[in-house]
Formats: sequence, structure tokens, C-alpha cells
Amino acid sequence: MARTISLKDSGRFKDPANLTWERYVALQARERERYLAERATIADDALNYRTVSPRYLERAVDQFANNYYSELSATHYIATAAANAPFDELKKCCLFQVADEQRHLEMDREVFERAGIPERDWLPAWEAPGTTCRFFRHLLELDDTIEILVKGNFVAEGAAGPGTFAVLADGAEARGDVFSAVNHRARVRDETRHISFARVLVKALIEDDPANLDVIQKWQDESLQLFVEVARGGERRAWWEGFLASYYKIALPLGLRPSSLPI
Ligand SMILES: [Fe+2]
Ligand SMILES: [Fe+2]
Repeated sequence: MARTISLKDSGRFKDPANLTWERYVALQARERERYLAERATIADDALNYRTVSPRYLERAVDQFANNYYSELSATHYIATAAANAPFDELKKCCLFQVADEQRHLEMDREVFERAGIPERDWLPAWEAPGTTCRFFRHLLELDDTIEILVKGNFVAEGAAGPGTFAVLADGAEARGDVFSAVNHRARVRDETRHISFARVLVKALIEDDPANLDVIQKWQDESLQLFVEVARGGERRAWWEGFLASYYKIALPLGLRPSSLPI
């Protein structure tokens, strides 16, 4: 089976957000302003993690690492996708996403810093079992734009979409971590756009050549398999269920089948 697929008729892909450089720059500026305004409403003690329990912080390091390093990975793999993009409309979407992910990365870096977690502890938390590290390291090895977008945007972001970020935001807020909650709610507005263009791309690929569905199915199965370890142990059950539900909601209508995942 072919490992690489292409969109023979690139006219089938159109950015669903219909962004131009001018519109994107205006949107980014608005988003940043809105984010800063929301952050400004957080009391200083809460913003600096003086109101959460020490136990919360101890357990949250894993989650902070999952947020920070997945955004760091995203800035890299989406830059590769932009560099190798087969046509301009797709390149444009990838380039805008580079800027989005960069902003998410900054937010998550600030969480680590304000929470007072020494930088030497960040990477070990990410490399520990049960994180999304294995998936993102796989993505960073790829150089094919279509494969990166299917695995990174369609599968991973499609899964980690609105549903799971809501779970994360509500969970953080309930434990007094208002800053993480604001961050999750800000990032989800961009991720929704990343998912939308990937969805349009997948739909176009399948319409272009129905045989592409088999390759996309394989990429989906590989990706979800790399995520399974995050669900093991049962601690992240609500997260995992929301994760699969978000993804299948966009994937099944396009003809993909659920993956069989031994948990
Ligand atoms: Fe992001
Ligand atoms: Fe994203």
C-alpha cells in the first residue's frame, strides 16, 4: 500500500476559514488581546499558583508537560508541513498555524514558570510513561505534509478538540488553577480552525481518490495506537473517552472506521 498520498486536483482544497494574510494578522491580534484581558482578571495569588494545593501542583506537572511539549512539537511539525507543502493554499494554512502554536507554547511556558517548576523537571515529566510523548516524537520524524496534517491536525487535534479541552479547563478550574483554564479555553479557538482545514483536506483526498481512505485509515490507527498509553491505568478515563468521542465525531462521517485499541 502506498505510504504517501497526494491531492491530484489541488483545487478541491480551500481554506474553510477563508483567511488572507491581512485577516489572519487582525485575528491573531484580536485573540491575543482577548487572552490578555482574560488573564488580567485572574488574581495575582491565583496566577502565581499560591492558591492551589501542593498536591495539585505535584500531580499537575505531567499535565503541564503534556501541554507544553505538544505545543512545542506542533510548532516544529507544522513548520515542516509548511516547508514541504505541495500547493500554496495548504502552505498558507500551515504557516498561520505555526504562529498559533507559537502563542500556545508561550502560554504553557508561563504556566511552568509561574508554578515555580524548575526547568530540569519538565522534560523528564514528558518522557515518563503515560504521556503523549511517543505520538509527538513520531510526528517529528515525518516530513510528508499530508501525513503530518492527517495525523497531527485531523487525528490528534480532532481528538483533543473542544471536548477534551473543556474537560481539562473545568478540571483545572475546579482545583483553583484558573490560569490553566483560561489557557485551554484560548487555545481551543485556534485548534478548532486547525481541525477544520484538516477535515476539508481529508474530505478532498477521499473525493480525489477513494483509495486514499485506506492510507488515512492506517494513519489514524497508527496515531491512536500511540496515544493508548495515555489512557492506561484508568486515571485519565474521562479525558480518553472525550478524546475518542471528539475524533470519531468528525472521522466516522467521512468513512473512517473506529480503530481496535487494546487498552
Ligand atoms: Fe496548539
Ligand atoms: Fe493546533
